[in-house]
Amino acid sequence: MRVVVTGGAGFIGHHLVSHLLEAHHEVHVLDNFSTGCLDRLLVQGEKGKSNLTIHDCDIVHSKFPTLEIDAMVHLAAPISVSESLKDPEKYRNGILEGSRRCFDWAKSSGAKRIVAASTAAVYGNANEMPISENTTLDPMSPYAHYKLEMEELLSNYNSFKLDCVSLRFFNVFGEGQTTTGGYASAVPIFLEQYSKSMPITITGDGQQTRDFVYVGDVCDAVVAVLSCGWPLLSPVYNIGSGKNYRIYDLAVCLGGEIQFIARRDEPKQSLSDISRITNELEWNPSCDVIQWLGRELFNINK
Ligand SMILES: NC(=O)c1ccc[n+]([C@@H]2O[C@H](COP(=O)([O-])OP(=O)(O)OC[C@H]3O[C@@H](n4cnc5c(N)ncnc54)[C@H](O)[C@@H]3O)[C@@H](O)[C@H]2O)c1
Repeated sequence: MRVVVTGGAGFIGHHLVSHLLEAHHEVHVLDNFSTGCLDRLLVQGEKGKSNLTIHDCDIVHSKFPTLEIDAMVHLAAPISVSESLKDPEKYRNGILEGSRRCFDWAKSSGAKRIVAASTAAVYGNANEMPISENTTLDPMSPYAHYKLEMEELLSNYNSFKLDCVSLRFFNVFGEGQTTTGGYASAVPIFLEQYSKSMPITITGDGQQTRDFVYVGDVCDAVVAVLSCGWPLLSPVYNIGSGKNYRIYDLAVCLGGEIQFIARRDEPKQSLSDISRITNELEWNPSCDVIQWLGRELFNINK
């Protein structure tokens, strides 16, 4: 398949490009490198030989390349919840307008499938655990609000010629995740603090829980959705691990000094119900965040 990955130079994107190249797909990346990194993408390109083409393209402002494509995986977006509260217009443009341009272009370029990255943030302070796709939605930030609007927009593109699905990612972790670029995730922050022998900083009391899903599992889910028999039964699927940990548990697993810092306005709990996707597709998450952290610590210390 010829697959376009928007945001393919980002954290999730460059892993996905690698997965797609390994599966012998032809991959075109559209990215403006605002938070993505060209160098790590070029490394994937080396492995995939000539099957990767990189387009320097801003999905909000640039002219799109002329291509015939089979599928699009839409990951490009600004991703900071806190920045979206300060600059909602950037998020309306970057998520809603950018997605609209991508979906129009994918449709006119012959795509038969569009898979878009949404977020568990659309559930906000969910009142039931685990969170299924039917749980009441409560987007607490412009970031989450526009992701939800993006899902609704995408569902309008669904037709007998074009299958469209949004995947609601929970807290993704894995190799190559940085502490810069907007999304403040506990896993890379804790690892950076550990490797610099600094105290591990926990926001609030650390009793908040999160569902951490490994980036390799996320990529497997995307590839499974791209390759399965369609149409799928649902326009949205949760992509999580189906397990959760307290932020405090992650910090303790690293050992050393812990510092508690001011809490953020964030959901107290998160835990995905992934039965919809696991029942429908041959996909199951395989990597546990605490075990993965153990391996990372071993590598740092060796
Ligand atoms: N990382 C997570 O835990 C998580 C959780 C839920 C949802 N998501 C979603 O997954 C997607 C990828 O997230 P990520 O963690 O890899 O983020 P990232 O910031 O590493 O990647 C985003 C990529 O999109 C590119 N980009 C941003 N705006 C663009 C524009 N206007 N035009 C072209 N390219 C643009 C960036 O340069 C970057 O390469 C995002 O849509 C995000 O909302 C991520």
